[in-house]
Amino acid sequence: MSRRRPADLLDLIEATPPGQELWVRGAGRSLYPLLRSGDSVRVLRCAPAELARGDVALVRVGRKLLAHVVISASPFLTAPLLGGKDPVGEPLGRVTALRRGGLLLPLPRLIRPTFFLGQRVLAGLWARPRARTWFRRLRDFTVAGWSRPLRQRLLGRLEVRLLREEDLDALLVFAGERLLVPSGFLRQQLLGRWGRADGSRGAAAGAFDAQGRLCGFAYLDDYREEGLALEGLWVRSLVVAPRARRMGVAYRMLQVLLEEARRQGAERIFADIDEDNFASQRTFKRAGFQDSSAELTRRVNAEWRASGGGKPLVVLERSVS
Ligand SMILES: CC(C)(COP(=O)(O)OP(=O)(O)OC[C@H]1O[C@@H](n2cnc3c(N)ncnc32)[C@H](O)[C@@H]1OP(=O)(O)O)[C@@H](O)C(=O)NCCC(=O)NCCS
Repeated sequence: MSRRRPADLLDLIEATPPGQELWVRGAGRSLYPLLRSGDSVRVLRCAPAELARGDVALVRVGRKLLAHVVISASPFLTAPLLGGKDPVGEPLGRVTALRRGGLLLPLPRLIRPTFFLGQRVLAGLWARPRARTWFRRLRDFTVAGWSRPLRQRLLGRLEVRLLREEDLDALLVFAGERLLVPSGFLRQQLLGRWGRADGSRGAAAGAFDAQGRLCGFAYLDDYREEGLALEGLWVRSLVVAPRARRMGVAYRMLQVLLEEARRQGAERIFADIDEDNFASQRTFKRAGFQDSSAELTRRVNAEWRASGGGKPLVVLERSVS
């Protein structure tokens, strides 16, 4: 589970007056492949009437934020870039730029017709199973087993270890590209808890490539640090960059966190994972995690829903000894 939508983010957007811009992280995957979950969008607050066909609108659907292409201004209709079902939502503003890591892609109004046509063409193609298969083959190159030798050569020797205070910059770069966790939280935890050698609770593990870039991350901490009333130490935000996947990085990071949990005197550690994230569930089970009790699973899901979470979660745990 990741606290995707701090309640104050929605408040902040709604409190931003028309005509002003702000950066928003976690606007869904509807603009995929242009926008991935860790990317940010720059939003210009404006009235729905100012949105036109071909604009990208930030729409609020319940407590979720989605960036969608406007396909009709009146009636107001939006759609994901690759087509599909459109949830009815409340438009909050116009997306004027996308940011992925250090890359900024401006979306000037000039490209509206191109964007509208592009969406129509892509949605048409995406509706064909054969086109989807080819697209997936291309996309999966970066994570496929057969590209592993090449990826391993590009990455060089991987070092998997606990993160220290001096790793903050590498962590913030990785977080900007791949995590939904606010950077202020990561900074505070790394400098205040995880990165200290004084036996504080919690820890963070990372995988570094030969150039010292972080390509995998996970942390272990008390959920109370994030305001959720759950006991024990939880593995959170386990993410491996696609270029380093299927090389055992997640497995090794879990081993590092387990060893640290043992050193800190914990008896069990826990994890919660989206019900449909089978790759992640397999990774945890390979590392010795097993299903938690129905009672804990119910409590975690209740806390998750109360904090604005969407999908149901599977809860796993493992003895540390
Ligand atoms: C889930 C995730 C963390 C796994 O990371 P990973 O580093 O690829 O995981 P591992 O390499 O340890 O294991 C992945 C697979 O590679 C296989 N593998 C690992 N090393 C291998 C090697 N040297 N040769 C062949 N296969 C290998 C594992 O057996 C495993 O196979 P499986 O998928 O059939 O079970 C990663 O896919 C990810 O970041 N996903 C997106 C974010 C996410 O969902 N995070 C979880 C949130 S709870």
